[in-house]
Amino acid sequence: MRNCLHPPSEQAIDKRAGPSDFERFLRSWRAAPLRVAAVARSSRALAGLITSQVEMHHSPVPELGPGTGVFTRALIERGLDPVALTLIELHAKFASLLRARFSQAWVLQMSAAPLRGQQLFGGRWAGAAVSGLGLLSMSLHLVMSILKGTFGHLRPDAAFHQFTFGPRRPVPRPILDRLGLVAERIGDTLSNLPRAMSIKSAA
Ligand SMILES: C[S@@+](CC[C@H](N)C(=O)[O-])C[C@H]1O[C@@H](n2cnc3c(N)ncnc32)[C@H](O)[C@@H]1O
Repeated sequence: MRNCLHPPSEQAIDKRAGPSDFERFLRSWRAAPLRVAAVARSSRALAGLITSQVEMHHSPVPELGPGTGVFTRALIERGLDPVALTLIELHAKFASLLRARFSQAWVLQMSAAPLRGQQLFGGRWAGAAVSGLGLLSMSLHLVMSILKGTFGHLRPDAAFHQFTFGPRRPVPRPILDRLGLVAERIGDTLSNLPRAMSIKSAA
């Protein structure tokens, strides 16, 4: 018999380290349903789709609302250097988990709303943003602040990658028009309903 050393699976790590991601999500959702906006983390299919247009040359890349890091992992699997990722997560427990899982990434425990005017990437512009935020359950004012703040850190041709459900736009049309943005469908996942979108400058 050959000796094979495999890294421990995520489930094995979860058993050793405490609750599974599903339990973490359920607990956080029970405590703040509108903020967490999901009872379970996103599927790997959605993670693959939403990150499918993000390339190494887009670094640095901010990720908003990474939760347990399912999109973060997909970005790293696409070849992005964790050092080039800034993970902006409001929930303290998710932020600690992200620090433990992605020790090389920069984890900020804060809201993605006041990003405007913050020094984020040492003066560099980001080439893309990825968002796991539940924009559909947020107030229009909050969505507007998040988009304005994030686009203030992006290169002119950069996209903000966001999921939505079914045919609904992740951001209402009047906000897109007001900020001069357009939303395009990237694709749909078969396993569950979410659809990935890219939001870009209309110019
Ligand atoms: C729908 S969950 C998605 C988590 C993860 N990206 C995924 O797909 O499994 C939304 C995440 O956004 C975080 N969040 C909610 N409001 C936020 C805000 N204003 N700024 C940053 N993170 C926020 C929540 O704590 C949660 O982790």
